[in-house]
Amino acid sequence: MTNAYAAHYGHNTDEWTRDIQMRCVPSLIQGLLKLPASIRALDVGCGRGDDVDYFASIYSYVVGIDICWQSEWQHVLSRRNNVRFECSDLMSLRSGPPFDLILDNGCFHHQHPDVYDAYLAAVARRMHSESSFVLLTFKDSSPHQHIDPQGRLHRYFDTKELHVLMTRLGLSVINEVDLYRIAKGDYYRLTFCRLHSCSESATSRNPR
Ligand SMILES: C[S@@+](CC[C@H](N)C(=O)[O-])C[C@H]1O[C@@H](n2cnc3c(N)ncnc32)[C@H](O)[C@@H]1O
Repeated sequence: MTNAYAAHYGHNTDEWTRDIQMRCVPSLIQGLLKLPASIRALDVGCGRGDDVDYFASIYSYVVGIDICWQSEWQHVLSRRNNVRFECSDLMSLRSGPPFDLILDNGCFHHQHPDVYDAYLAAVARRMHSESSFVLLTFKDSSPHQHIDPQGRLHRYFDTKELHVLMTRLGLSVINEVDLYRIAKGDYYRLTFCRLHSCSESATSRNPR
């Protein structure tokens, strides 16, 4: 996985960095959640750091982690004093205080199925009762996957499959928005989650 990403970044074939459907995600999150400036955010698989830079312009503290180190991180760090980057796998991220917002903008759907549980458990461990986890995934009505020439796995989850995974790891889906992909003619799915116990108590406070 690390080699596949390093090859993409090294050859500037990281088309996701220039993907306008992904670059609009932070502004969509803030537009929907209207989080206060005081929050702490984590960007899992932050790539070159564009979303970290965006979040750092509105939130008090932002951490970006990625298995590939990026020279662009230095540029973000030179402009912002509320940012930390860590070259790390999510599952080995140092422990610390929880985050109010965790973004996964296109990282989870490239993981091997064997690590889904460990990956989502690592996310849930870094949340508190009011945290939001926002996840962008490929969407298809019939789940499938393929491996690209660089060796990256691409998983197209169907919505039910994704929700079952979330629920198993204690995450409840609060909201979901589709983002149209012009070049592919299909959709990304942006899923907003909370820890299960919190959404359960919210439901019981507001029975339908
Ligand atoms: C498709 S790219 C998306 C990058 C970035 N979020 C963006 O929107 O441009 C996925 C990123 O996740 C990183 N990555 C993959 N698996 C990871 C893991 N287990 N922990 C941390 N980063 C990971 C890759 O190196 C890559 O930069």
